[in-house]
Amino acid sequence: MPANWSPDSWRAKPALQMPDYSSDEAKLRDVEDRLSSFPPLVFAGEARALKKRLAAVSQGKGFLLQGGDCAESFAEHHADNIRDTFRVFLQMSVVLTFAGGLPVVKLGRMAGQFAKPRSSNMEKKGDQELPSYRGDIVNGSQFTSEARIPDPQRQLKAYRQAAATLNLLRAFAQGGYADLERVHQWNLGFVKDSPRAERYEEMSGRISDTMEFMRACGITSENTPQLRGTHFYVSHEALLLGYEQAMTRKDSITGDWYATSGHMIWIGDRTRQHDHAHIEFCRGVKNPLGLKCGPSIDPDDLLHLLDKLDPQNEPGRMTLIARFGADNVEKYLPKLIRAVETAGRHVVWSCDPMHGNTISAATGYKTRPFDRILREVEQFFDVHQAEGTYAGGVHIEMTGQNVTECTGGARAISEDDLSARYHTHCDPRLNADQSLELAFLIAERLKAVRQHSLGAVPLEVAAWPG
Ligand code: PEP
Ligand code: CO
Repeated sequence: MPANWSPDSWRAKPALQMPDYSSDEAKLRDVEDRLSSFPPLVFAGEARALKKRLAAVSQGKGFLLQGGDCAESFAEHHADNIRDTFRVFLQMSVVLTFAGGLPVVKLGRMAGQFAKPRSSNMEKKGDQELPSYRGDIVNGSQFTSEARIPDPQRQLKAYRQAAATLNLLRAFAQGGYADLERVHQWNLGFVKDSPRAERYEEMSGRISDTMEFMRACGITSENTPQLRGTHFYVSHEALLLGYEQAMTRKDSITGDWYATSGHMIWIGDRTRQHDHAHIEFCRGVKNPLGLKCGPSIDPDDLLHLLDKLDPQNEPGRMTLIARFGADNVEKYLPKLIRAVETAGRHVVWSCDPMHGNTISAATGYKTRPFDRILREVEQFFDVHQAEGTYAGGVHIEMTGQNVTECTGGARAISEDDLSARYHTHCDPRLNADQSLELAFLIAERLKAVRQHSLGAVPLEVAAWPG
């Protein structure tokens, strides 16, 4: 255990973005007590396994695909939503695994992604001003004063929803749904219907040939469990620290503390002050950690944070999630990479091309143009190539549903189309087609990286399960 740390040591530090529960403190204590007595959602051994996979990514031997809702919601908790997002994950992973010749670490923003930081404490509509919505684990999104009062009971509901979601994800991952043959058939369907079919046909044809070759050699999903199932991990922003503390457990095998609310937790761009509560909490748990890096972080801040969060420089512990906005990557990322390299730090570099590219459409909808998202990813790869470092992953907000929240993509969603199926409870997400299209485009970059590097895939990590 790190010096002077305990699961509640964050309480002595300033904490930003926390709800005001002052009117309900007794109820809050009761909820936190109950949560501490509930079963953990994940097992520490799983968090260690994820860390090991991320350690391989940090060495260029894997690629991290992290994604899901901006905010999960109570109202949208349906099996179909979970299945469809999982399905797009698998579809993207096949494309990325094939192009990169590398296992893809699949990490959902799912089963716990409920609490949201906000840029303003208050929301104004006309003459009325109310406290902001902070995610379903805190308050309601309806614009009424009752809905916006933080309700501790919501944490119990979030816990139960996370448990049910994780249960289904585990079943899909291992129960036959993730069969590589099936996933490839879905991708063939996508490619056939895509307005950019020609661009993607070559790659999907090569995947078909490879699978036929494997079948001819007697390697099929019936006789090869690695082709039948996959590993899937979950993550969320560790924002609501009372909930996180209540879900923190001491691992009986190692004696270390783990956040058991998810396999990975990350620290948001608004709550990464080195002497504040969120960093204090995260430094003491042994899970893999994400750290969002926006334009306001400078190299010294970053190194200071890495010293606090990862004093042992443990591979797989830290994933740095760059989110600068298209056309800003070049300005901010190289100096961070150089500082990390000079300090000899082992990290995964991942690109969040969503949070720096949010705009307001003329119609009032918050949206993100697909071409900007793409441009940020391209710049991320360019900068890593120029610095001689490894672009290890992407972090995206996406859904398997056919929503109209981000403009552009092969089907050219326009600002006028946004109102058709705009369902997000927070930020605009890529829909299934846009997500898969992004995967094909990243695949082209991964292929180029592979052709430049030694090319050999380490056998111990080269299976579809990733
Ligand atoms: C998010 O990931 O939903 C988010 C709020 O991101 P950031 O902390 O990078 O702004
Ligand atoms: Co978001």
